[in-house]
Amino acid sequence: MCGIVAYTGNRSATPILVHGLRKLEYRGYDSAGIAVQREGSLAIYKKEGKVANLAELLGDYRQDPEHTEAHVGIAHTRWATHGPPTTGNAHPHCGGENRIALVHNGIIENYRPLKAKLEAQGRVFLSDTDSEVLAQLIDSLYEEDLVTAVLAALKEVEGTFGIACISREEPGRLVTARRGSPIVIGLGEDETIVASDASAIISHTRQAIYLDDNDIAIIDGGKVDIRTLDAIPVQRDASDIDWSPDAAEKGGYEHYMLKEIFEQPEAVRNTIRGRVDLERGSALLSGLNLTPRELVEFRRLLIVGCGTSLNAGLVGEYAVEDFAGMLAEVEQAAEFRYRNPIVGAKDIVIAISQSGETADTLAAVREAADKGALVAGLVNVVGSTIAREAGRGIYLHAGPEISVASTKAFTCQVSVLLLIALKLARSNRLSRESGVKIANEIGRIPELIQEVLEQNEAIAEVAKDFVGYEHMFYIGRGYMFPVALEGALKLKEISYIHAEAYNAAELKHGPIALLDENMPVVALLNQGPGQEKTVGNVEECRARKAPVLGVITQGDEEAKAACDWVIEVPASPHYTTTITATVALQLFSYHVARLRGCAIDQPRNLAKSVTVE
Ligand code: M6R
Repeated sequence: MCGIVAYTGNRSATPILVHGLRKLEYRGYDSAGIAVQREGSLAIYKKEGKVANLAELLGDYRQDPEHTEAHVGIAHTRWATHGPPTTGNAHPHCGGENRIALVHNGIIENYRPLKAKLEAQGRVFLSDTDSEVLAQLIDSLYEEDLVTAVLAALKEVEGTFGIACISREEPGRLVTARRGSPIVIGLGEDETIVASDASAIISHTRQAIYLDDNDIAIIDGGKVDIRTLDAIPVQRDASDIDWSPDAAEKGGYEHYMLKEIFEQPEAVRNTIRGRVDLERGSALLSGLNLTPRELVEFRRLLIVGCGTSLNAGLVGEYAVEDFAGMLAEVEQAAEFRYRNPIVGAKDIVIAISQSGETADTLAAVREAADKGALVAGLVNVVGSTIAREAGRGIYLHAGPEISVASTKAFTCQVSVLLLIALKLARSNRLSRESGVKIANEIGRIPELIQEVLEQNEAIAEVAKDFVGYEHMFYIGRGYMFPVALEGALKLKEISYIHAEAYNAAELKHGPIALLDENMPVVALLNQGPGQEKTVGNVEECRARKAPVLGVITQGDEEAKAACDWVIEVPASPHYTTTITATVALQLFSYHVARLRGCAIDQPRNLAKSVTVE
């Protein structure tokens, strides 16, 4: 997804901007560019492809006075939405012969009529993008003051934006604003670094201000003046970014994804710390801010999310029904929004999102809130839009997740959902004794994950035999079905092997027609409810020559005998096996993708944070 970095201060802007762009590479993008202001002019550099291509174009920017004497600049990584990923469509975009330069995240929905109006005024467009329309609009409204022009232009646009803008006529000044697309302002000593994501800031400063929707900031060096889009001054407090620069680096692992897989015991420990009430067999979730009455009187718990967060949500649905005997449903966030859902004051809606910026999930949050539901966020990124708009909720504390393929967010999300289910259950029908048992099982999750990680090499060995396949099935029953979904999602997104997940029972209703020796099946065969039935499905697969990889409970010889390969995970109740089996499948996908030579941390066509619908 697109990324923004901008700088104003005493240092040379270009090295800081290029460094910032590199830190944003993990988000996924297809072109990059920068604009720097120097001696009454703007210099623009853009290139399709990676930031390395842009750096090559910039040449010796650490020595070249063109750059060393430029102390203000903006930069962008673009993930194409309007127009192909070409150099011409890359940001920054300009208006009026490089009088202003703009970088933009988000989508200008009414760009067509605005473009027609500007063309009628004689303006010529150089790109296919909606962002250039905003740049030209600002320029068309620019008389003496950039801020006035930006404010006037933003009044005319519909859609979402996070922007940074500079003018050749206003030395040292940077203007940034947001609506629906995050902007973080890093506060340094006589300098300011703006970005769409804290990763681009943390090597310079930990003090940051998160702009709210409809805020604009006018920045000169270290001076930050924040107003609403109606030009009313507002106070936004600075907070500490608690990610260390190290935490955002690979820490010696070949890929961020592997690092993040291995961080899971610690991540879950951080997630559940202080939240498991072993004494009362319950959970302490003050962030949900639910009264005892609300805990028992709600009609339904609705969980919304996308991708991995959606799969985690499905485990939540099963657990709430299982532990609490209460009505829970999970729904893909975009579907929820567009099908005029029946939701109201008696519903609790939990929006799950690692990034807290997923457009569809955010739209679902707004829809649910508009309809009067009680909305809570289950989010990793502190200060993100969903976290703030939900107003209540639970932070995951999983640390930065850089790899596009989500791993530790899933395990932490499931851990919290189990705690929510436990809390609801204890407020309703579950005995203290049963609650204590579940609380203890949740407390064991970090050590169970550790045991799975110790099998990394064995899993890498198994992965070797799957490198040549182009299609795979994943099957599971009950709690193991969401694991099948997540396993298949992980494999397809990083290895490009076509993988589909089915509830094991569904196999016979159609998909079985595809089985032969070229269609391996990954079967979730862990001991627990429904296991024998899934073993039966495995027999059916093997009878059709499909090779079978079983994820089984350690030492389960019967399950082992039913499979061609196995990955063993420690014995635990199915509700926590959702986590251990998923970790095993994360490692499996990782090794298959690595052996196939795939770009694991930045898979093709994918973005870390999907901030457009
Ligand atoms: O940031 P979110 O959790 O809202 O993101 C949702 C999905 O876009 C995300 O989980 C996506 O499916 C990942 N690439 C999965 O690995």
